[in-house]
Amino acid sequence: MELDRQKVINALGGPDAVEAMNSEARAEALEGFLSDQLDASVAARFGAPAKASTVAELESQIEGRAFRRGVGTLFAVGGTTPFGNRVPGEPATVQRLVPMPAVPTLMDFFRLRFAPATHVLQSADKALAGGLPEEIVTACLLHDVAQALMKADHGWWGAQLFEPYVSEQVAFAIRYHQALRFYPDHSVGYDYPGMYNVIFGKDYVPPPYIEAAYRYCKDHKWYMAARQVTINDLYSFDPNHVVDVEKFTDIIGRNFKQPKEGLGHDNSPVAHMWRTIANPDAPL
Ligand SMILES: [Fe+2]
Ligand SMILES: [Fe+2]
Repeated sequence: MELDRQKVINALGGPDAVEAMNSEARAEALEGFLSDQLDASVAARFGAPAKASTVAELESQIEGRAFRRGVGTLFAVGGTTPFGNRVPGEPATVQRLVPMPAVPTLMDFFRLRFAPATHVLQSADKALAGGLPEEIVTACLLHDVAQALMKADHGWWGAQLFEPYVSEQVAFAIRYHQALRFYPDHSVGYDYPGMYNVIFGKDYVPPPYIEAAYRYCKDHKWYMAARQVTINDLYSFDPNHVVDVEKFTDIIGRNFKQPKEGLGHDNSPVAHMWRTIANPDAPL
């Protein structure tokens, strides 16, 4: 990475501020600057705009789009990220999907519909490396995959999608991570994600239902399960750190009740959601 000396000094608060720092503080500030630069370059690879807009500016872009930003990742080119922009190198059209097997498992959905699923796989891997309980690792692994179907309110969609097949605590963690991620908890080292200034707008205030969900969750016995999902949520994931879903085979086996008829064919209240993910090309 090439560094412009003046730019670095300015980013650190100007020449006087840098002069006043001891060598340790200087090294720390430089490290923070480099990490922000890396986050920005990775974000750019995922189609993120270079700087955060206001909520009003983001809203003014709605009529310039061919699709809405809440669209599921499977449904539109440019829908694979929350930025609503085509990722550099992404094909101009949606691609034909590989048909699902007759009796699809969660693993099949990971490989054929949620892939590359880098974000959730890295989040689950972080939880695993942190020695967290299997239910938390499971929640981290599943927390965002409903975005294949729908990005808007993905915590609720995700909890509903998985509720028949996972423990109540796992479904709770998936549902409430959506609200909790906006609220820092310094006692466990969770800060407001800087990336949200870009995604939601730098003056974004969560709507009342999110605030109410946060208030309900923070006094709940499973608060920390949902909080762990936000702590292990990676906002600037490393595209070169590849985690294979195979790594979680045993954890999935113990924490996900795979229906014998296959997901989408078990007549559960959410079977249609799985069928829609399996075949998003169905016209009606
Ligand atoms: Fe999420
Ligand atoms: Fe996430």
